[in-house]
Amino acid sequence: MLDRLQELHDEAAAQIESAVTLSDLRDVRVKYLGKKGPMTELMKGMGKLSSEERPKVGQKANEVRESLTGKLDAKEAKLESEALEAKLQEEKVDVTLPGRPVPKGGRHPLTSVVETIEDVFIGMGFTIAEGPEVETDYYNFESLNLPKHHPARDMQDTFFISSDLLLRTQTSPVQTRTMEKHQGVGPVKIICPGKVYRRDEDDATHSHQFMQIEGLVVDRGIRMSDLKGIFATFVKEYFGEDREIRLRPSFFPFTEPSAELDISCALCGGKGCRTCKGTGWIEVLGAGMVHPNVLRMGGFDPDVYSGFAFGMGVERFAMLKYGIDDIRHFYTNDTRFLSQFKHV
Ligand code: DAH
Repeated sequence: MLDRLQELHDEAAAQIESAVTLSDLRDVRVKYLGKKGPMTELMKGMGKLSSEERPKVGQKANEVRESLTGKLDAKEAKLESEALEAKLQEEKVDVTLPGRPVPKGGRHPLTSVVETIEDVFIGMGFTIAEGPEVETDYYNFESLNLPKHHPARDMQDTFFISSDLLLRTQTSPVQTRTMEKHQGVGPVKIICPGKVYRRDEDDATHSHQFMQIEGLVVDRGIRMSDLKGIFATFVKEYFGEDREIRLRPSFFPFTEPSAELDISCALCGGKGCRTCKGTGWIEVLGAGMVHPNVLRMGGFDPDVYSGFAFGMGVERFAMLKYGIDDIRHFYTNDTRFLSQFKHV
């Protein structure tokens, strides 16, 4: 039995020596010193021993147990400190490394363009008005001289919510809303930036949702020349001193006469190129003298008051100013595109 104990000791000692992980070590401890281990098994035979042999075997068993426990504890401490050391190495922080920059957001280019345009008009005495994006048929169409079934309604394919409610197709309804607030007393001098919606297929120049800026001036004695003067100032402020403007006859149901405003092409300086389709001019907005019916529906007397109105596409202004070739860039939120406008 003494030999067998020594054998078990040596066997266990070898396994402790070769254990690589703490879990290996735990297995060895359970295997040799556990209740179901070979030591316990061996001790069960003690009863059969002579009274001379018994204490010797008992003593030897205690020695083996003590020796193995000592070896196990020592190896455990060694493996634990190695594991700690490895973890510390792995988690080492080099405090001398430069910090990682946190990317900062910027303003959306459309926001910057709207604010720039607002500043120019505020400088000319305009104030900012707002109106709802969910609009009634009355404000979006009827009050703008577009009665039900008027063919010109087809110019703007509409998202209807019900027979009377819709997503506004233009910022023009804010004209009527603003005039109503003034209760027939001028002057009115506002611009209104905002989102509008149309049932268009999205492509490089169309988006089902885009932005417009509406303008309205109503007072005694307002003439077409006032409109032209305001635009000449605005275009030079926004696009640069060298830009010329021209008004071209057009049609809008809410203005009479109506006009489209062109600016001279910046790329070719008016000579004609691909951007201006060879004409030397680029169309930028619709405008005109407010139709008497529209003044009347807004509560103003057309015999006393006159006015002009205009509406422009914000994306178009941004595209022309920064040479952007696709309106979808504004709405796909690719940070590679957006980050170029951080500082404008
Ligand atoms: N609402 C027109 C559109 O969306 C633009 C417009 C044209 C607005 C002439 C006006 C205007 O106020 O006078 O196409």
